[in-house]
Amino acid sequence: MLVRQLLSARELSAEFAAKLFERAAQFRSTRQIPAVLQGHHVLSVFFEESTRTRLSFESAARRLGAQVMTFTVANSSVKKGESLLDTVKNLLAIAQTPSIVVLRHPATGSARFLAQELGQTPVVNAGDGANEHPTQALLDAWTLVQALGSLKGKQVVIVGDLLHSRVAHSDLILFKTLGASLTVCGPGHLVPRWMEGVARVAHDFDAVLPEADAVICLRVQQNRHSEVVLPDLNEYRRFWGLTNDRAKKLKPSAVVLAPGPVNYGVELDTEVGNSDRSWILRQTSNGVWIRMAVLATAAEAAGVK
Ligand code: NCD
Repeated sequence: MLVRQLLSARELSAEFAAKLFERAAQFRSTRQIPAVLQGHHVLSVFFEESTRTRLSFESAARRLGAQVMTFTVANSSVKKGESLLDTVKNLLAIAQTPSIVVLRHPATGSARFLAQELGQTPVVNAGDGANEHPTQALLDAWTLVQALGSLKGKQVVIVGDLLHSRVAHSDLILFKTLGASLTVCGPGHLVPRWMEGVARVAHDFDAVLPEADAVICLRVQQNRHSEVVLPDLNEYRRFWGLTNDRAKKLKPSAVVLAPGPVNYGVELDTEVGNSDRSWILRQTSNGVWIRMAVLATAAEAAGVK
């Protein structure tokens, strides 16, 4: 199956995800990576801050032979009122080659809007508001497959601010497709009601730890909230932080993931993040190979080659 765009984890069937994992693994183990994007541009369009996502997309694009054009909002004409669509149209006019657009934007639905407007140009959603972040779900799932063998029947706990987390939204969709057994937990006002249909909602983090095969700690996103949603970070850590003491309740084989950036000492203790059960840095590395698989697949589907 070939898809020209990746806007939502809903587009990923189990078979298609498996193909992307296979392709990512091939890229990882190949010395001579085929330059399938030679003569093409990847437009890295980031209207929000990013370290891992932007740099791993750009590294992935370069490894495939593409030219990378980076747009960050800070010094751009967006400050003069230029729209998203006009910005991207102008970047395409500069590139003057077949291009793939990687978009991160604070508005929900922005990636879909852009894909519809651009027609043939592939668009990959690198995070749209609090909505979705499908390549993060792919790299999280691939990391869990490496750690646990498969996701089928595995107990995955996602803890934290589920309401505002696009990572959690995409993870839940893809992990369910891949057969995981899902539990969400966090402060009551940050776990939306609709999740009851998707995952088990737990109100006691300690109680779910002994059975977990994997725990994903979400970041407390103080920067993305216009309102104060967590009055006290120490209080958060006490109930929802994966502290060193809490981690002792996990099975020896259980693994810990976090999409990053991590507020160490809030959602995760440094000691746990540095322990053998932490796969956090491997998530970051896996992001490069997964994004290569996504970019190469999108390019082929668009007839870029
Ligand atoms: C996440 C994001 O930006 O949605 N980070 C990431 O992409 N690695 C999660 C977060 O910011 O907490």
